Amino acid sequence: MSDDFDQFIADVRATLRPGSGPVELEGVRQRLAKLLANSAFVQRTCGPDATGGLHCLHVDDELGFEVLAHVNEKARKSPPHDHGESWAIYGQAIGYTDMTEYRRVDDGGNPEQAKLEQTRRYRLNPGEVGVFAGTAIHAIDYPDKSRFIRITGTNLDAIERVAFDEQTGRIKRMGAQQAT
Ligand SMILES: [Fe+2]
Repeated sequence: MSDDFDQFIADVRATLRPGSGPVELEGVRQRLAKLLANSAFVQRTCGPDATGGLHCLHVDDELGFEVLAHVNEKARKSPPHDHGESWAIYGQAIGYTDMTEYRRVDDGGNPEQAKLEQTRRYRLNPGEVGVFAGTAIHAIDYPDKSRFIRITGTNLDAIERVAFDEQTGRIKRMGAQQAT
């Protein structure tokens, strides 16, 4: 297809395998960066005429990964959260997203309460792609009209994930597509 998405899916399928690790995820990261350089794809999925909201572009029946377009209209700041056991790859299409990464500095023994420490902050600009390994804690913060493509290792609605209150450290279970 002219906008490269079908070839992108074929390439991702050829890169991933069950239990994919950093090498495979880096391959997908680089391939997503190449897709985001395709303006026909960016305009179709995330351009001014794209319908706002969360759009599933691909669910892979065999390998389980999903590709979603987040066509955001309004600014949003997420709480720190994880993706359970799933990895996630975020590729910025339009605007920017500020990413913050955290680590737990408590012993992890209390299911209700955690102590987090920021480890890294950076901005994803158009064409830039960030990778989060499974269970990596992160938060996102974006302005109006920020739009990005997210690939997850599995359907996040089907697995247990948690979010953290940044002030109190209180842990809460997350619902379907509640945070990104
Ligand atoms: Fe996330």
